[in-house]
Amino acid sequence: MTVLPVYDRADWASAFRNVEVELNGVALTAARGTIPPELQGTLYRNGPGRMERGGQWVHHPFDGDGMITALRFGPEGVQLSNRFVRTEGWQAEEQAGKFLYRGVFGTQKPGGVAANAFDLRLKNIANTHVVRLGDQLLALWEAAEPYALDPDTLETRGLTLLDGVLKKGEAFSAHPRFDPGHNGAPRMVTFGVKTGPRSTIRLMEFAVADDPASGVKAGQLLSERRDSFSGFAFLHDFAITPNWAVFLQNAIAFNPLPYVLGQKGAAQCLASQPGGQAKFWLIPRDSGAFAGQKPRLIDAPDGFVFHHLNAWEEGDQLVVDSIYYADFPSIGPEQDFRTIDFELIDEGLLEQCRIDLASGVVQTQRYSERCCEFATVNPNREGLSCQFAWMAVAEREQGNDPLQAIKKLDLQSGERRIWSAAPRGFVSEPLMVPRPGATGEDDGWVLCLVWNGARCASDLVILDAASLAEVAVLELPLAVPHGLHGSWAPA
Ligand code: CO
Repeated sequence: MTVLPVYDRADWASAFRNVEVELNGVALTAARGTIPPELQGTLYRNGPGRMERGGQWVHHPFDGDGMITALRFGPEGVQLSNRFVRTEGWQAEEQAGKFLYRGVFGTQKPGGVAANAFDLRLKNIANTHVVRLGDQLLALWEAAEPYALDPDTLETRGLTLLDGVLKKGEAFSAHPRFDPGHNGAPRMVTFGVKTGPRSTIRLMEFAVADDPASGVKAGQLLSERRDSFSGFAFLHDFAITPNWAVFLQNAIAFNPLPYVLGQKGAAQCLASQPGGQAKFWLIPRDSGAFAGQKPRLIDAPDGFVFHHLNAWEEGDQLVVDSIYYADFPSIGPEQDFRTIDFELIDEGLLEQCRIDLASGVVQTQRYSERCCEFATVNPNREGLSCQFAWMAVAEREQGNDPLQAIKKLDLQSGERRIWSAAPRGFVSEPLMVPRPGATGEDDGWVLCLVWNGARCASDLVILDAASLAEVAVLELPLAVPHGLHGSWAPA
């Protein structure tokens, strides 16, 4: 029996829009339930906020300019702010009232192929992730350096080279991982990729707090290393364990010609490489037991991975949980993203790879057939073995649909719980926030911005992380388009 989808496409598509307002500290109350008083800190979200200029739509929402949404939970209640990142490109296009740059995902400047050919400038749109590092908030976009923002006002301070760590225009991943203290003090571990026929990964580890004893300051670079690998690297995400930084190089090829000639965006020139071999690139962390050793290269299973859930070590084995697609998903030049047929696109499925480091043998196991994305663990279990995962899933048990529900999965028993926003709600990336002083891995809350198709606006939903029971719902006076990543900064 085929189970039909339960959503209305118009509800899903209504979240693709321009954000026309910037709010500054608007007080919110719970429309339902009670906001937990121990929940103190700020939820930051990033995602595309501008989808259209001069009547022209972006070709893909990932080409939309970054807008930060902040929900501050304090003793006086919750306050909402949102602000566009004042990137150079955003400012110039705001003035011009039209697109002046090509987008990586296929947005072209007006004027057809001739106007786009040989224009290889990148527009840093700062739209992928937002994290707190030291006294600044970083709006991240993986192909260039971060934009620094004021964590309270969200005002853009400008491009940052992180105190000279980066060169101008240097790639800096949008997927930092936060080591909760594997080998001492907590760290932010991240990377940048320089691609070519050989690709170089620069692995960087930063302090996340001041240490008066050693004089180390939050945001200071503690270690780095560079490793080169043959082939074009497309690395959106990675994973860490106490000893390893884990990269999965998909079997993918990049043919830049249509991009150079003005026919396609750069990301539309990526395609699965028939007969290619995916590889795990395991780079030893400097704080771990294999510091200074060469990377390990191990054959990885077929499929395409954007995001990892987590990784950890078990004796001689390295366990890596990731969301696999059967193939690299791309939106061709003739397609409108708002009318895509979900049935024709492969869904993301959570799988576990167990790598035997002695033999190089990899065993895989699928956790579930339900389409998922944006999977996360308790931040205190990052890089360590864990029992629970929370993720955005489709409402149907099988098939590819928009993400409408939150799932809590027990990785050991397979037991699952679901909270659903269907039929008119569409979820974004859930974040797990541990309760202060909690000892249980699932003791805390799950925070999720939900597109409410009935209101054509966004709700913040707070769930109990253990039971997925609804704790509170805040109806925002703001329409936040389907977004990308975000983080929680405790008070
Ligand atoms: Co991502």
